[in-house]
Amino acid sequence: MTTSWESPSNIALIKYWGKRDTQLPSNPSISFTLSKCKTTTEVHFSEGTGVNITLDGTDKPEFIPKIEGFLERIMHRHPWLSSYNLQIKTRNSFPHSSGIASSASGMSALSLCIVEFAQKIDFKFDALNFYQEASILSRLGSGSASRSIYGGLVVWGGTPTLENANDEYAIEYPHIIDPIFKNYCDVVLLVEVGEKSVSSTAGHALMENHPFRSQRFSQAHQHLSEIQKILKTGDIENFIRLTELEALTLHGLMMSSSPSYILMKPNTLKIIEEIREFRRESKLPLSFTLDAGANVHVLFPAAVKEKGMAFIKNTLIQYCKENRFIADHVGSGPKRLTNFEK
Ligand code: DP6
Repeated sequence: MTTSWESPSNIALIKYWGKRDTQLPSNPSISFTLSKCKTTTEVHFSEGTGVNITLDGTDKPEFIPKIEGFLERIMHRHPWLSSYNLQIKTRNSFPHSSGIASSASGMSALSLCIVEFAQKIDFKFDALNFYQEASILSRLGSGSASRSIYGGLVVWGGTPTLENANDEYAIEYPHIIDPIFKNYCDVVLLVEVGEKSVSSTAGHALMENHPFRSQRFSQAHQHLSEIQKILKTGDIENFIRLTELEALTLHGLMMSSSPSYILMKPNTLKIIEEIREFRRESKLPLSFTLDAGANVHVLFPAAVKEKGMAFIKNTLIQYCKENRFIADHVGSGPKRLTNFEK
């Protein structure tokens, strides 16, 4: 039996950085789910054991240990997995390990395939519903993947100002938001497309003894409370202030870890300076956020798309690897596929 899902990446506005126990976040986060940055995965389940995986049609034995580790981590919820062989075929719409969260789209697509199959074989899982279970499994694969299960704005991690938010799985942002945030644009500028020098997992671990740890975690709760007012009122000025602060704080935490490290590249900083200068001069609401990598996500409302894209093509593209960027926007979440397009 085969199941197939397409699942998007997401970009955090308030960042998850630091974790405890089995993939539980040290602070709450909120993200925009993307649309075009996505992974398509097909899993063929048959009786037996073991896993094999292809990416874009090529065997990837080097991915097997990570997938096996993930399956072991979710086995207590899905013990049936121990008597199945999984043949996984996957492809990304963006470069692997580029700082675009391929783990978020990849782990969420795989989790959705597993939960759908579990349902088909009539396995009664504890969770209340399909998507909640998929978010729990995704989280056990990669924290940020828990948020890719839903479209729009998604929250993961308990916080006093949001009743149903919790550490185990993500939820759709439950309140009414200003329409400006419904189809926000995110153009991902590819500054660096190779493997990152320090993985997110290693970065999270460095938060354990980080000197600013407790201040950071309480700041994230504070920011989550602040962003809720911003989302409601459409206060773009404060949206920009807060999300840029979050991006630079994330990288500031890396720079102040022990050992310290830097994932931004000279062109990352050039782009940030250009965006801020353009915003000052044009008064247009273009801003940036960063993932745990050198790439820059340029954020702007759909209403200024034409001018935003012109600025990117005229000014920012020179800082991108081979002039590459991905023009994305807020999307509606994963899709179940009936035919895996090869
Ligand atoms: C900077 O979810 O990739 O993108 O749980 O170890 O897989 P693991 O980490 P990961 O960390 C993402 C960190 C971030 C911020 C965010 O997405 O919230």
